[in-house]
Amino acid sequence: MKNANEKVYRKSVRKIAQGRAIYTFDKIIGKSKNFVSIIEYAKKIADSTSTVLITGESGTGKEVFAQAIHNASSRRDKVFIAVNCGAIPSNLIESELLGYEEGAFTGAKKGWKCW
Ligand SMILES: Nc1ncnc2c1ncn2[C@@H]1O[C@H](COP(=O)(O)OP(=O)(O)OP(=O)(O)O)[C@@H](O)[C@H]1O
Ligand SMILES: [Mg+2]
Repeated sequence: MKNANEKVYRKSVRKIAQGRAIYTFDKIIGKSKNFVSIIEYAKKIADSTSTVLITGESGTGKEVFAQAIHNASSRRDKVFIAVNCGAIPSNLIESELLGYEEGAFTGAKKGWKCW
């Protein structure tokens, strides 16, 4: 049993390290009527090409939903990268997320970040 658990654990760690989403809708816990309707709505919009904004208190499962949506979409084989925007200074967030041209600022070398 210990080996089986360790195997699952290592697999999850590998997925996270490789930018993979591990949560799927069937792993989301919650039975209340409102919660179930949110799950159903998220399933419905999963394959949209639109941007999805998920709001909620800290620890309420925003990333769990983001991962489940990713895994239910046609992008499931692409990388899933969670970015903690609060940890990136506001004047750097643009270049961190969208990349930059060589020479855009001191030390900006060729090699645009590309997810
Ligand atoms: N509905 C849920 N079903 C299963 N696990 C959940 C659920 N909600 C939260 N969790 C668990 O709680 C942890 C924290 O959730 P998550 O990271 O999605 O929160 P968050 O809303 O993104 O928080 P933060 O705002 O702090 O980033 C998850 O790793 C997951 O293990
Ligand atoms: Mg989060």
